[in-house]
Amino acid sequence: MSNNKDFKRTLITSALPYANGPVHIGHLAGVYVPADIYARYLRMKGEEVLFIGGSDEHGVPITIKAKAEGVTPQDIVDRYHNIIKDSFAELGISFDVYGRTTSDTHRKTASDFFRRLYEKGEFIEKTSEQLYDAEANQFLADRYVTGTCPHCGNENAYGDQCEKCGTSLNATDLINPRSAITGNVPVLKETSHWYLPLDKWEDTLRHWILDGHKEWKSNVYGQCKSWLDMGLQPRAVSRDLDWGIPVPVEGAEGKVLYVWFDAPIGYISNTIDCVGDEWEKWWKEKDTRMIHFIGKDNIVFHCIVFPAMLMADGSYNLPDNVPANEFLNLEDDKISTSRNWAVWLHEYLRELPNRQDELRYVLTANAPETKDNNFTWRDYQARVNSELVAIFGNFVNRAVVLINKYYEGILPERGQLLPIDEEMIADVKTSVKALSDCLDNFKFRDGLKEAMNIARIGNKYLADCEPWKLIKTDPERVKTIMNLAAQICANLAVVFEPFTPFSAARLAETLGLTDLKWSMAGEFDLIPAGRKIAQAPLLFEKIEDSVVDEQVNKLLATKEANKLAAWTPEPVKANVEYDDFAKMDIRVGKVMECQNVPKSKKLLEFKIDDGMGGRTILSGIAAYYKPEDLVGKEVCFIANFPPRKMMGRESMGMILSAVNADGSLTVIGPQGEVKPGSTVG
Ligand code: MF3
Ligand code: ZN
Repeated sequence: MSNNKDFKRTLITSALPYANGPVHIGHLAGVYVPADIYARYLRMKGEEVLFIGGSDEHGVPITIKAKAEGVTPQDIVDRYHNIIKDSFAELGISFDVYGRTTSDTHRKTASDFFRRLYEKGEFIEKTSEQLYDAEANQFLADRYVTGTCPHCGNENAYGDQCEKCGTSLNATDLINPRSAITGNVPVLKETSHWYLPLDKWEDTLRHWILDGHKEWKSNVYGQCKSWLDMGLQPRAVSRDLDWGIPVPVEGAEGKVLYVWFDAPIGYISNTIDCVGDEWEKWWKEKDTRMIHFIGKDNIVFHCIVFPAMLMADGSYNLPDNVPANEFLNLEDDKISTSRNWAVWLHEYLRELPNRQDELRYVLTANAPETKDNNFTWRDYQARVNSELVAIFGNFVNRAVVLINKYYEGILPERGQLLPIDEEMIADVKTSVKALSDCLDNFKFRDGLKEAMNIARIGNKYLADCEPWKLIKTDPERVKTIMNLAAQICANLAVVFEPFTPFSAARLAETLGLTDLKWSMAGEFDLIPAGRKIAQAPLLFEKIEDSVVDEQVNKLLATKEANKLAAWTPEPVKANVEYDDFAKMDIRVGKVMECQNVPKSKKLLEFKIDDGMGGRTILSGIAAYYKPEDLVGKEVCFIANFPPRKMMGRESMGMILSAVNADGSLTVIGPQGEVKPGSTVG
């Protein structure tokens, strides 16, 4: 149960994304990019690795989405599983398998797992009262109940959480609960479920994590400690729902496995789908180590609940590490699927084609490893242009162009090394060592800095040696410099493979390198003299302002749309007496002339035919109308407002307009032709 230092192979799992939507940059930065870097790194080290992915296709949100669209839950998961799977593949996430929890293998594996625990007496059965919709004839999952939040008074809180104040709730906490299916008031009804008694495993878990895994990331260790310190309670592992894996027990009709019971078993079933009978080697042999890549909202399930399930079975390994990340925000706002506040991977791939490595790079450079972080399109552009293009791409370009120019691409032999060469080599070796240490300890962000540092070393080496000057005076010396510069390029191809595999492959091809291994990093005889090197590859292209502007505008449009969607009418004001209303003289008028008021952005000046000889009215609607469009229109105005001076002009009344959700104004007038001067009342 301690750290497995003498392992022979590594099982890498990445959280199975819910197939109720596509994946976004938050998922990528938190889970899939780091998991992929780690898998690629271990493979390059020659280790035996299995990298497991797949879609999580059960759970209530999928059924809600299906209902909202009038399709089946299977339709929803088929749609998103395919989008997710294809976009991961295009980004170069190198899963050995990408399965799904609606597969036959999974249904059987999860069902058998439950049965084994059931037969060993590892569950307790308990009856409790749950909210029930009598008309729909079904129990209501917490998400299916809405009502008033007892903490902040939000009238549209969900049964599991109030999105306004963020408090987690139980559906039975809500004031005035309503069923999201029928709108009816739910009733309490008895139901029985199976529970995993986490309290039974509390001491073992405490010892295993708090004593045995002090090396885990502090955010992970800390969250585990606070859960354990609060004391663990039995957790229900079944639900009353018609979407999921049926509870494989007599008399359990209408009940399915809770999604968080079946999903982690998905790691096992996907292993089976990948390697068949050999799966047990990956899950049960003591010289296999297991690493779970997840986001911070999954910590309790991977460090407490799933390990308790595995211990209850008794024949499985426990995870060796769970390097969970914090969250990535987007342009200073929490990423949200329901508010469409995200950069969706499949859209990114379509809108910024052949820019996979750029995204992988930026998400790693800015990974939320120790705290929540922020993605902005300006930062994306800056990192691509001033790091990938200006440092990495620029160095490779200079080195390869010069080799082609001086030697027609044939790599020259190098001579005696000077101290400046030895120093450069030592610096590269130091960075490689630091980089390996970072990757071994899941510090991908710092590791990437070390990789980039090797390109910086290359740039500095060329700048210091100035081969373009020496070529005239000391061509022998230039051979050594260019040979070494080529070896730095080869090092870059090796160390960037886990981070930016597409560009690394292009660079390796340019240099004639095949079969990149981690042991090559820090070596300087990677390309033999005499080898023909290809023309300089275009590794990275600058991101233009227009590309970023387009993405920023897309987000601004989302923000506007969200504002409109969240709009509610103002509360009605206190009652007034008829007499109060009757004092107001509202009339119909016809716009005869309309023009901007010089030096005012807000005001338009109207000449209104009021049936009484005409009057001038100033109105603050210049931002929403062109004056000429209003001429000839009929409007309503208050005729008995006292005259008011604005911008040196006198206004005799007020034109009525409606305030739109976005704050803009629409002038209000009569429906048909009405004689100017008619009263409104
Ligand atoms: N679908 C879950 C989420 O997106 C993660 C499931 S991870 C697994 O939060 F272990 F359950 F597979
Ligand atoms: Zn609330």
